[in-house]
Amino acid sequence: MRKRLIDNLRVPGPTPLPPKVLKTISQQMINHRGKSYEKVQSRVTENLKYFFQTKNDIFLLTSSGMGGLEAAIVNFFSPGDRIISFTVGDFGNRFADVARCFGAKVIQVKFPPGQAVSVNEVRKVLSFEKEIAGVLFTHNETATGVLNPIKDLSPLVKSHQSKPLFLVDSISALGAVELPMDKLGIDVLVTASQKAWMAPPGIAMIAVSKLAWKKHQTAKMPRYYFDLSMYKNFSAKNQTPATCAVSTILGLDTGLLMMKKEGREKIYRRHLDLTKSLRKGVRNLGLELFVSDINASPTVTSIKVPEGIDSHNWLEIIAQKYQVILAGGMGETKGKIIRVAHMGWVNQKDLDLVLKALQNSLNDLSHKT
Ligand SMILES: Cc1ncc(COP(=O)(O)O)c(C=O)c1O
Repeated sequence: MRKRLIDNLRVPGPTPLPPKVLKTISQQMINHRGKSYEKVQSRVTENLKYFFQTKNDIFLLTSSGMGGLEAAIVNFFSPGDRIISFTVGDFGNRFADVARCFGAKVIQVKFPPGQAVSVNEVRKVLSFEKEIAGVLFTHNETATGVLNPIKDLSPLVKSHQSKPLFLVDSISALGAVELPMDKLGIDVLVTASQKAWMAPPGIAMIAVSKLAWKKHQTAKMPRYYFDLSMYKNFSAKNQTPATCAVSTILGLDTGLLMMKKEGREKIYRRHLDLTKSLRKGVRNLGLELFVSDINASPTVTSIKVPEGIDSHNWLEIIAQKYQVILAGGMGETKGKIIRVAHMGWVNQKDLDLVLKALQNSLNDLSHKT
């Protein structure tokens, strides 16, 4: 029986840690240049390959997810390169911003919040644009709870005449949602430790295809800390160029061992089942979901804030009175939605508590559903 020590933390990262991971991260430091660390890094990398479904190189960057997205841009492009970014929310905007900031010519195609990218629209844009160095997608838009159909988008990118790099931010989905990197021909894939991996914040993970390595040779964007050539050299001895977030990597190791034990397919199924039951429960409360069933993320569910309710006040009641911590909207959806995360270490009981807190708080607000 799981003991609930503190709040039911249901924000989309950092996510709650299983006791085994908590125990691991509280252990004494080890030498990040020593044999016992090297063994851990080697095992973590191998286990990540199982979840990324790739034979490509994977590197552990000591940074949050954004560092991974910066590495994904600066290592493979030169200022002036044309990059197309298809976005459906705030995190897509940030990926595009990174590319802009380092001098890429970014063509951003935005879709309305709550919707996924339209495959037809992507096809149209890609057939119109002749010279493209890269195409950016967010797999799971955490800001709205939308899952993009990367499987359907892959052939459109891979068949483009200019052979652009196919870059995917799967920071808030990978590990919980299937995304087979090699099969889909993804060139650069990024995720972060504090999401579905049952580990603390501090590590971004980035996988790099052969085509991306080729482009790396001539890419001129400025980089130092995130220069993946250095990571490649050091990874030969299962180390990182600079001092890594040792505790987070130890926690990630334990999380991955637990995940391997549960198995890929079972994890994906658990997330889908939890999403389905949460969405049903939300509807039963008379609340409206922000995203259609077909585009719904298996890790984050957005709920429309009913008329007459102040979202900030509602979230405060849910937190203070019922110890359930949910997230609000971001950017364009601020005040309009609240978000429930269900990634990593989560089960039906956790979501039952969320539903109960939603119901009770609506009663407190005298909201008639
Ligand atoms: C899809 C996505 N991209 C990027 C980020 C940024 O990651 P971080 O906050 O770890 O830098 C997040 C964080 O929630 C995310 O969900």
